[in-house]
Amino acid sequence: MSILAATPPMGWNSWNTFGREINEQVVRETAAAMVQEGLRDAGYLYVVIDDLWEDDERVDGRLTWDPVKFPAGIPALAEYVHSLGLKFGIYSCAGSHTCAGKPASYGYEEIDAQTFAEWGVDFLKYDFCYTPPGVNGPMLYQRMGQALRMTGREILYSICEWGTNEPWTWGARVGGHMWRTTGDINDSWESILHIGFERQVGLEAYAGPGHWNDPDMLVVGMYGKGNVARGGCTDAEYRSHFSLWCLLAAPLMIGCDVRAMNAATREILLNAEAIAVNQDPLGRQGYRVGQTPWGRQIAEVWAKPLSDGSIAVGMFNLGDMPNRLITVAWESLGLHDRRPCRVRDLWAHEELGVYTGSFSTRVAPHDVALIKLTPVSG
Ligand code: GLA
Repeated sequence: MSILAATPPMGWNSWNTFGREINEQVVRETAAAMVQEGLRDAGYLYVVIDDLWEDDERVDGRLTWDPVKFPAGIPALAEYVHSLGLKFGIYSCAGSHTCAGKPASYGYEEIDAQTFAEWGVDFLKYDFCYTPPGVNGPMLYQRMGQALRMTGREILYSICEWGTNEPWTWGARVGGHMWRTTGDINDSWESILHIGFERQVGLEAYAGPGHWNDPDMLVVGMYGKGNVARGGCTDAEYRSHFSLWCLLAAPLMIGCDVRAMNAATREILLNAEAIAVNQDPLGRQGYRVGQTPWGRQIAEVWAKPLSDGSIAVGMFNLGDMPNRLITVAWESLGLHDRRPCRVRDLWAHEELGVYTGSFSTRVAPHDVALIKLTPVSG
């Protein structure tokens, strides 16, 4: 029996770039671009509309879409997305209103879940604004989890509770397939450092097939444009961001405008060897092996065990020191230091040779070496 979200969910979400500027045409063009650009075939399946798709009032107790932004309606849009071999996602909130102030699902969980199922929704992102006093977070998410199950439709349940009540300890129990562990990411190196490198440490025991920690959507390829733009990042920074999310077995939800990607963005988002690390069927979340501070010049090594006995390793130069030498010792990974390992560079896509005991390489500021160590006998 296959389980939903057996590997981390992959797709696109409208929020990071489009915010309130979301509409039917953007979603249709995005879905088409995901096919043309090869994103669908690389595994990015979910096309998710975030907040601000809703009209201001319910009609007959039901949520309905903004008729100006979505003249043909959400069901027709879902049908178009499905016709391309993609899956369709939408957004609501556990409180009375969404974070942007639109009507939300508190007290309407059953009717909203039913409505989404009728519209052909495959993914629900469920936020945490305007929650009623006296009802705790887990209970609010339990209510929608139960309502989704009662529809009988397979709907991936994406909990967006920002880590407030440690959702990693109860998210799977209420039916969640992924849960945000932090507040919102933005398109800056500082945000990647904070949300990715600092806040995910120690959460690795809580993720596995069917239930994942979610450090928020990708900012790769935004370059300071769009709703959560805060100056933007360099290609090296986006490469580090993507490598870490792959090692973390994080959901890979693209946040840039996929209709207008440059070559560097394509190379990052379509790196099949990095994606394979993220999608490895063992489903182990990577962990921080070590940190080497030198004043404020920090280098970090992260590792993710893979199903074939190999280990994916990220060697990150988080500071500004040029050509920083970073070493990973076998013993820090639980490997015997006399075990020879094949080393493969997952960004250069080349074999680097067989090493014993340790591997060292030079890494540019804010960049990463993402390698795979495969133990060989002998
Ligand atoms: C919250 C969420 C974001 C986004 C907005 C929409 O801030 O954390 O990811 O969904 O709401 O209003």
